[in-house]
Amino acid sequence: MQTVGGPAAGRARAAHGRPIDDISNDKVNEAQPTDPARRDGAPPDADTGRPVERPPAEPGPGAGQEAGAGAAAGPAAAGPQAVAGVSDRAPAHATAPDAELFLGVMSGTSLDGVDVVLADLSAGAVRLVSHLRRAFAPELLTVLSALQASNRDELHRAAVAAQHLARTYGMAITELLHRTGVEPGRVRAAGIHGQTVRHRPDAGYTIQLNAPATVAELTGIDVVADFRSRDIAAGGQGAPLVPAFHAALFRAPFARAVVNIGGMANVTGLPALASDLPVVGFDCGPGNVLLDGWIARHQGKPYDAGGDWAAQGHTSARLLDALLQESYFRRAPPKSTGRDLFNPAWLDRVLGTCDPDSTIAPVDVQATLTRLTAVSIADALRRFWPHAHEIVVCGGGAFNSCLMGLLAEECAPRPLNRSDLYGVAPDHVEALAFAWLAREHLARRAGNLAAVTGARGDRILGAHYPK
Ligand SMILES: Nc1ncnc2c1ncn2[C@@H]1O[C@H](COP(=O)(O)OP(=O)(O)O)[C@@H](O)[C@H]1O
Ligand SMILES: [Mg+2]
Repeated sequence: MQTVGGPAAGRARAAHGRPIDDISNDKVNEAQPTDPARRDGAPPDADTGRPVERPPAEPGPGAGQEAGAGAAAGPAAAGPQAVAGVSDRAPAHATAPDAELFLGVMSGTSLDGVDVVLADLSAGAVRLVSHLRRAFAPELLTVLSALQASNRDELHRAAVAAQHLARTYGMAITELLHRTGVEPGRVRAAGIHGQTVRHRPDAGYTIQLNAPATVAELTGIDVVADFRSRDIAAGGQGAPLVPAFHAALFRAPFARAVVNIGGMANVTGLPALASDLPVVGFDCGPGNVLLDGWIARHQGKPYDAGGDWAAQGHTSARLLDALLQESYFRRAPPKSTGRDLFNPAWLDRVLGTCDPDSTIAPVDVQATLTRLTAVSIADALRRFWPHAHEIVVCGGGAFNSCLMGLLAEECAPRPLNRSDLYGVAPDHVEALAFAWLAREHLARRAGNLAAVTGARGDRILGAHYPK
């Protein structure tokens, strides 16, 4: 059995499993199949069969944006402490002349900030070199939140926010490269997703705020951006775009599902390697977005760390049933969604009809919303990808222990593991996907899977802004 890129053993972790450090030198080759019966423990090193120890990393400027220190949950539980004095420098493969360095920059619907990865994509592998996360400045967060719905002077506000975003991306890229000791000239391109403020494939558009020209100007690096619009132009949903990357990374001799729990949740169904079935992928509904909104309203916190608050409550069957009436859950793929549908106003509407007197305690609403995410994902798997022998979870929701417990319960008896068991940290996967999509763009290869998005065909995604 072989797994390349070990778990985050020894890496500094936040209280509930999210890394405190935001920079790491990790080796992430294509994840190899694991024994589905193996539920816990560190994946073994490919050569020695021993668990892979990865170098822990130093917390850097801004690292305090994560929760406090503690032990990780899940199979790749790490030691609680950061270890000082470990170099951030790029590993040898990344400085070799044949390295193919790409940046991936992801800021998702959670609005929790930006994840930047530097990856070496040479020799058909995906090897993480380093990672950095930065929260948005409070004023940027405020304007991005406001721009999720129509409001006054929004063209101007969106354009200004896009410039602010681009500076945030540019600074994060520059800092990551500086700390890793990599010159911008060595990076082939940065794949930048941008910040979704509208997703309306039904109306022929999706809007990811970004200013790629500004990022190219600030960093001296080629930028590939606007990945979704070509798929929509070809009649597709423009989303999800990660399934092709999930297939490259996680496909195995047996069928798997990859579940990405970001603001929204999306599922990729990966047929067994020998199978002729197509890869399946779709957004299944809310991931963290409702959980984040509810705890922000009641406790002023950006997210329910570890799902600790939800774990103190009880599911309201009445509310859960009412939430599950949403027809989106039953719609067959291709389908994609966003804050346009699942947002606090949607929740308030359901609460208004099913609990007009507010008899359900806030903590029980949090518990019910967490259950909703788990149930809607498990239902989607049952309906649209029942073949999975094993479920791999990535995205920030993988750090919510309460949610992971409920999801494991709903998906039983199939094993469910965090992606770090397969060599890729949950919060690196999507950013790596955009580094990979930038490489596919430069190679003039398609990045979408038409069978997933419903487009008329596979298309080269993105627009190129030379440095
Ligand atoms: N330690 C944690 N405990 C609970 N939830 C977490 C934790 N860390 C991250 N999250 C959740 O993950 C979200 C971010 O996930 P992410 O994959 O970045 O989503 P997106 O792609 O939409 O930005 C946060 O908003 C939060 O809800
Ligand atoms: Mg995010």
